[in-house]
Amino acid sequence: MYQPLQLETLLAKAGCEPDLATGALVSPPYLSTTFERAPDGSYPRGYLYSRHANPTRHQLETLLAHLEGGQACAVFASGMAAATALLQALEVKSHVLIPKNVYYGVRNLLEKIFVKQVLSYTTADFSDLESVRAAVRPNTRLIWAETPSNPLLQITDLSALAQLAREVGARLVVDSTWAPPPIQRPLDLGADLVLHSLTKYLSGHSDVMGGALIAREADAFFERIRTIQQTAGAVLDPFSAWLTLRGLRTLAVRLRQQCANARVIATFLAQHPGVIRVHYPGLPDHPGHEVARRQMRDFGAMISFEVAGDATRALKVAARTRVFMRATSLGGTESLIEHRASIEPPDTSTPPNLLRLSIGLEHIDDLLADLSQALED
Ligand SMILES: Cc1ncc(COP(=O)(O)O)c(C=O)c1O
Repeated sequence: MYQPLQLETLLAKAGCEPDLATGALVSPPYLSTTFERAPDGSYPRGYLYSRHANPTRHQLETLLAHLEGGQACAVFASGMAAATALLQALEVKSHVLIPKNVYYGVRNLLEKIFVKQVLSYTTADFSDLESVRAAVRPNTRLIWAETPSNPLLQITDLSALAQLAREVGARLVVDSTWAPPPIQRPLDLGADLVLHSLTKYLSGHSDVMGGALIAREADAFFERIRTIQQTAGAVLDPFSAWLTLRGLRTLAVRLRQQCANARVIATFLAQHPGVIRVHYPGLPDHPGHEVARRQMRDFGAMISFEVAGDATRALKVAARTRVFMRATSLGGTESLIEHRASIEPPDTSTPPNLLRLSIGLEHIDDLLADLSQALED
């Protein structure tokens, strides 16, 4: 008997199911929206219409479920479409608990859409589990963690939070976009669901929008998510699914190099006189360092840092970079720098002097030289 395959092996063969008709090693993207019925009216190959199911999408969902160690996966047109489907699957009047530091789009989604209709939500400090426990309400049905968090890279102890969620009868979903497998696998730590923006590391080339929900169990709750996917229709299109499979082939090596670059850059920034604070869980003085060491295989490739000075100084540093490109988003092969507060809503708690880096695959010397010259007085 073979051992179960390592994640790196699964990734290297992503999208590689020899085509039955031609023997093509790499499966083609199945762009067809519709599928042939047999003379008796049945669909013997299982596909009838692409909103309902599509072979390329199915290939991606199967692989993502394996990667996270889950029983089922549904992919969507964006990370936010995946988040929407999850919130829609909750019972009316459920309470959702989210971290104070969370991707602002998730808070926006709850605030602008769901609280006006069917749900309530509050926030807590997820780096302190007593604060989470105190915020739980009798109708809390979903605890939403994001670790490392966007943009402050706070770390949540997922095993302890999963235990708490079980005690209070809530589901735990972890937005693991910033630390995909093989770096972090929240279901192994007791989470019920994992959310990914496929737009980031999993597709990995800044040319796909997508989202995924992976469930530990293919239970009735997941079936509701599947029904929302198929019926509401915010599905991932087949070509984006194919591009994501193609990107996944190099995920493990991309992450290895991006994390290695990030470790060097975080250490450089921590020693730089023009920087007053570095948010990166790989630094030994980061408050979440020990938990991150336990629950992650590496510390990821996202770094936020605060420059000595105000927003104007931070914007000036970003304006000077030549290798780092000024843009939002993350997880591509190219390094990005972003003044985060100016893209978030006016009531953001992101420090005005904070710059966020997504570390790419460029040569480390070029990245260091670029930051060094940008931080000069
Ligand atoms: C942590 C996190 N979750 C979810 C999203 C939303 O993903 P998408 O832009 O694919 O809708 C983002 C986007 O930046 C993110 O950073």
